[in-house]
Amino acid sequence: MSQQYSADSAPKSALVTVADRRDWWRDAVIYQVYPRSFADSNGDGMGDLEGVRSRLPYLRDLGVDAVWLSPFYASPQADAGYDVADYRAVDPMFGNLLDADALIRDAHELGLRIIVDLVPNHSSDQHEWFKRALAEGPGSPTRERYHFRAGQGENGELPPNDWESIFGGPAWTRVTEPDGTPGEWYLHLFAPEQPDFDWDHPAVGDEFRSVLRFWLDMGVDGFRIDVAHGLVKAEGLPDLGSHEQLKLLGNDVMPFFDQDGVHEIYRQWRLVLDEYSGDRIFVAEAWTPTIERTANYVRPDELHQAFNFQYLSTHWDAEELRACIDRTLDAMRPVGAPATWVLSNHDVTRHATRFANPAGLGTQIRLAGDRELGLRRARAATLLMLALPGSAYLYQGEELGLPDVVDLPDEVRQDPAYFRGAGQDGFRDGCRVPIPWDREGSSYGFGGGGSWLPQPAGWGELSVEAQTGAAGSTLELYRAALAARSEQADLGAGDRVEWLKAPEGVLAFRRGAFVCTANTGGEAATVRAYGRVLLASGEVTVTDDGEAKVPADATVWWIAD
Ligand code: NOJ
Repeated sequence: MSQQYSADSAPKSALVTVADRRDWWRDAVIYQVYPRSFADSNGDGMGDLEGVRSRLPYLRDLGVDAVWLSPFYASPQADAGYDVADYRAVDPMFGNLLDADALIRDAHELGLRIIVDLVPNHSSDQHEWFKRALAEGPGSPTRERYHFRAGQGENGELPPNDWESIFGGPAWTRVTEPDGTPGEWYLHLFAPEQPDFDWDHPAVGDEFRSVLRFWLDMGVDGFRIDVAHGLVKAEGLPDLGSHEQLKLLGNDVMPFFDQDGVHEIYRQWRLVLDEYSGDRIFVAEAWTPTIERTANYVRPDELHQAFNFQYLSTHWDAEELRACIDRTLDAMRPVGAPATWVLSNHDVTRHATRFANPAGLGTQIRLAGDRELGLRRARAATLLMLALPGSAYLYQGEELGLPDVVDLPDEVRQDPAYFRGAGQDGFRDGCRVPIPWDREGSSYGFGGGGSWLPQPAGWGELSVEAQTGAAGSTLELYRAALAARSEQADLGAGDRVEWLKAPEGVLAFRRGAFVCTANTGGEAATVRAYGRVLLASGEVTVTDDGEAKVPADATVWWIAD
């Protein structure tokens, strides 16, 4: 059924014809486009909005429901666009507002929804507000929109507290005052070019509600909220009292992360969103110590979804996966939010490379590992993920089985964390290399020119062109999985799975007529044949006596005959 959005709260540009299925997001497959690296329409080596628009039919044919675009706003690009100088403008390197409008319209015509990234924890240091705050000096009202503080020590030469930047080094930078003297410090949980807003100041909230409306009026279907757990800082900015901050991250509530006060902000945002027609959504990037605390972000009057980073960090291990799946579903059920599942994004080593290496190396890996093993496991892990109830996130290029590029020369790196030393995220460029569309040609069809990060030799063999129609290719596996997920088995529906008895190392669960068996072990396993094989990530052999041999690191989807 296709229906137009009503025009009462949206201007003409938001008149769209996406299939208006209520609660579409509960089981949606959402594809992350990293605009720099997806498709380059003007041959300058940098992806752009027009490039994305030209490839929308590919995404429709892949079978995803929505596209989440990483930031394309005006930005000096100190953190690849997560440093926004103007929240209402498109950076010229990506195009302009007309291109954004055309992209949203075309997507809707193809039945795809568009989710944009909102970066409310910090702005760029080139944002008008911050430039004014610097120029107007200590005590000026414009400084109150950020966290400016006097330093400690005799002459204020020490940072105001012991917080560290996620990208390494202190979370504070001292400014030179307009009169040329060393002055106050400002807080930046990320790079110095990303000053944190002070969300206690009412102008900050007003501004972001207005930014929400700007993009809702443009017709977007939702927002991914960057650092959603970081907006509110503990009263008085207390010391952490530990020099092991990076180890604590994600394991503990920190004075700058996951403070209870953030939830009031999202309740207000929800009111804004709900004024608009069309079932639009928020998804939180919220790193919290536990999935139960993540569930707080998706209570009925707050956000719709939150990324499940616990799942992303889980190893390819049946017991660990089962525990994480159970805990996730149990945490989301009481708040009525769908579980989400994700294996890769622009901040972590691609799962084909994570699984190519021994477990326990974390999500930032600089080793190629055993690529064949990694790809086998990645394909199996994807089929497992897509069989779970809830919504799944894909990161561009994973449908091609792309590995991380682990040997980028240091001189081409752009990740700010890399330059700030021991940050946890120093190697994110490896998952951001522009994707290959064609077997050959300049930048393998990414654009007419070069590519802002060099693509490795052999990239063409992994291209969309090389894999399209190729039996057994990863791209065809994704296409078949997405088609089967929605057309034949309605796999995203519901909020539970029924576990079945299975040999060690194997996960087996039923969802009505559908059964998924995933063999995470290093050896082939024998399981019951639960009907007809709907799809498999490896070669399955079904015997006459109702059993099936599932190879190591493979997932099989079964449907009752
Ligand atoms: C999370 C984003 O995913 C990451 O790329 C960025 O560096 C930080 N937030 C800071 O905005």
